[in-house]
Amino acid sequence: MIGRVTTETPWWRDAVIYQVYIRSFADSDGDGIGDLAGLTDRLGYLADLGVDAVWINPWYASPQVDNGYDVADYRAVEPAYGTLADAEKLIARAHEHGLRVIPDLVPNHLSAEHAWFREALAAGPGSPERARFVFRPGRGPDGAEPPTNWRAHFGGPAWTRVAGPDGGPGEWYLHLFDPGQPDLDWRNAEVRAEFESVLRFWFDRGVDGFRVDVAHGLVKDPGLPDLADVDDLTGASLGPGAHPFADRDEVQEIYESWRRIAEEYPGARMFVAEAWVPSPERLARYVSPGRLHTAFNFDFLLAPWEPAALREAIDTTTGYLHGVGAPATWVLENHDVVRAPSRYGRRRDGAVDVALGERRARAAFVLMAALPGGVYVYQGQELGLPQVDDIPDEALRDPTWERSGHTERGRDGSRVPLPWTAGGSSFGFGPDGGDAPWLPQPDWFGRYAVDVESDDAGSTLALVRAALARRAALDALGEGPLTWESEPGDPVLSFRRGPGFACVVNLAAAPVPLPEHAEVLLTSAPLDDGLLPADCAVWLSVG
Ligand code: NOJ
Repeated sequence: MIGRVTTETPWWRDAVIYQVYIRSFADSDGDGIGDLAGLTDRLGYLADLGVDAVWINPWYASPQVDNGYDVADYRAVEPAYGTLADAEKLIARAHEHGLRVIPDLVPNHLSAEHAWFREALAAGPGSPERARFVFRPGRGPDGAEPPTNWRAHFGGPAWTRVAGPDGGPGEWYLHLFDPGQPDLDWRNAEVRAEFESVLRFWFDRGVDGFRVDVAHGLVKDPGLPDLADVDDLTGASLGPGAHPFADRDEVQEIYESWRRIAEEYPGARMFVAEAWVPSPERLARYVSPGRLHTAFNFDFLLAPWEPAALREAIDTTTGYLHGVGAPATWVLENHDVVRAPSRYGRRRDGAVDVALGERRARAAFVLMAALPGGVYVYQGQELGLPQVDDIPDEALRDPTWERSGHTERGRDGSRVPLPWTAGGSSFGFGPDGGDAPWLPQPDWFGRYAVDVESDDAGSTLALVRAALARRAALDALGEGPLTWESEPGDPVLSFRRGPGFACVVNLAAAPVPLPEHAEVLLTSAPLDDGLLPADCAVWLSVG
């Protein structure tokens, strides 16, 4: 039974959504790689945690150049993760637990191993098969220069040259990410029809929505102009909608057609956009009426642990999103960013004070869970896992490491397989004695294991469980207004939700007294003689 649905508020407006990085969640068969059966076995853990839905990173058949963001077949499951039947079983079991399932859709690019790209290479220049992609002749006398000066996100040029019909050097194709991820041409009607069919394929199998990868990037300027600032990958340096491959206005037509498809299905199916755009105003366009339902709000994630920055991120986001009738979403971690305890604990000299970072990450979680709208929790965030900063160079798997010429270590440090037990050869990630996890786990990982934290009332896991249970029980939380009690510039953030609820976050250096209250509902760390310590957050019931 799916819970928390009312006719007034569709579930996605205030859902708590848990992100499963499937490769690193739980390995049921001992090959060192997480899988769908491992996730299915642990749905009870997620239901007990108090989340409403799971977003699962790409589970499709893929050469895994970018851990599944290079899809070879959108209608098949990656064999290392299981089968289509396993995905169907996962969806059914999740629904029995009251959890919704949101797979990841990767529409900007596919894998160089996808049948379409192989056909494009075989068919040659000018063919309808190549028209699904962005193939162009090179510049310069021999066509030896890429068609534009665009850079790929992982480093290096955004173009790769393929062989011509005579076996000599031929055209170039666009890939905003790895060369193994050719970009599709979304001006092509076949591309649009294919993704509409993929949406229906999975909606027919009961998924409750999709996370839309690179939602800002699908449509390119057909004139393919050079960029004045090659480091501007999101459009910050140009006028609204003027960047050749980021946040172009034409992407919205695609989302309008997807919204219509979602609405053909019963049960409030939803989309959440991963859109890296220059402003909340631009983000609001993705969730305007008739378009996608929600979008990740990265401004909050990117804000430093400073009262003015956090307040500004909260106000501008809610302002613009509410202006178009969309709920806000709150995100502190995902598989692409440094985990919160390491981010908030980083000192000016670059060293990380983990204890300080953990304290702040706990307070940030308590703050986030009190904000209006939906909340995302990235696997391991509920354990307070810090970033793993010392993965040996030879073990790094993020394409960023190779493509940057070994100058950027990439995102693997937030993707290390989860510790479930303090003991066991992979801390319970896989069966004891199975293959080593695909990324090495550090010795200290056991301290954060689920079984350790489950037995510790002061653990981050206990805090997250308590926060989510309280949040679900309190009418004041979820959607609804937020009223600031503190003044802009105050080092202590204080706001009310509903008539009887207040949240206070102390970003000052010293403990502060609590405002008048009836009851302390939740604290991110114990109070200090009735005072709220520095870097702590509290929920209060107030008159
Ligand atoms: C965003 C995803 O979150 C990231 O992991 C991936 O590398 C890129 N999109 C490319 O698909």
